[in-house]
Amino acid sequence: MKLYRALQSQGFGSRKSCVAQVRAGAVGVNGAVCDDPETEVDPAGLELTLDGVTWMFREQAYVLMHKPAGYECSHHPSHHPSVFSLLPAPLLQRGVQCVGRLDQDTTGLLLFSDDGQFIHRMISPRKGIAKVYRATCAESVTDAMLDALRQGVALNDEPVPIAALACDRLDACTLRLTLAEGKYHQVKRMIAATGNRVETLHREAIGSHALPADLPPGGWRWLAPADLQQLEQPWPSARS
Ligand code: URA
Repeated sequence: MKLYRALQSQGFGSRKSCVAQVRAGAVGVNGAVCDDPETEVDPAGLELTLDGVTWMFREQAYVLMHKPAGYECSHHPSHHPSVFSLLPAPLLQRGVQCVGRLDQDTTGLLLFSDDGQFIHRMISPRKGIAKVYRATCAESVTDAMLDALRQGVALNDEPVPIAALACDRLDACTLRLTLAEGKYHQVKRMIAATGNRVETLHREAIGSHALPADLPPGGWRWLAPADLQQLEQPWPSARS
C-alpha cells in the first residue's frame, strides 16, 4: 500500500493533505521520517508518527470509552456536548460511530467502531450480547421489584413483557441489571414499570468485557482482538 493511502485510510486527511504532510517531512514510518508519499508500506505492524504521536495501522477501528455524564451520543447534540468531541480527529475522520447509545446522564462503557457488521452484531437482540448496568434507584430495591424484572415487565410500544437476563440487589437502593437488548431508555423504563425510578445509571460491562477500572471518565482506548472476543461472548443462556 502507498504511504499516502495508508495515512488516508487511518483518518489523517484527504489524499492531497496526506501527500503534503509526507512531502513536508511530518510523517514517520516505523520510527524513521519518510518524505515520499508513494513509498510502499506493509500495513501489518505499521507504525505511523504524526505530530509526535505514534499510531498503529488498524484495518478497522474498535474503541472503548468511559462515557462521562453530561454528554450526548450524537453527532448533532441538542443540549450537551457530544461524546465524539472526546475522540481524536483521526477517529472522527475515519467515521467511527457509537455502538448503541447511552443517555446523556448515563455513565460507563461505550463502544465506537467504523465496522458496520461489528456494530450490527453488538446491538442485535438476536445475538444475545449482554449489557450490564448498575442502577441507583430513588426508592428501596424490593424482592417484588427484582422478581418483576426477572419475570418481565410490560413497556409501552413493546408487544411482550421484557425480562432481564439477570438482576441482583447490590445495596438498599442499588441493583445490577443485565439486558439482552438496548431499547430506548430500556433500564429506566423497566425500573419505572416496577414503580421505582432510576437516579443514576452506569454501564459496567458488555458481554464479558468490563469497563477497565483504570480508565477515567472521558478516557478512551483501542480494543485488542482478545477484547473483541470477550465483547462478543453471548450470555450463557443464549448460546446455541
Ligand atoms: N437504558 C437506559 O434507560 N438508559 C441508558 O442510557 C442505557 C440503557
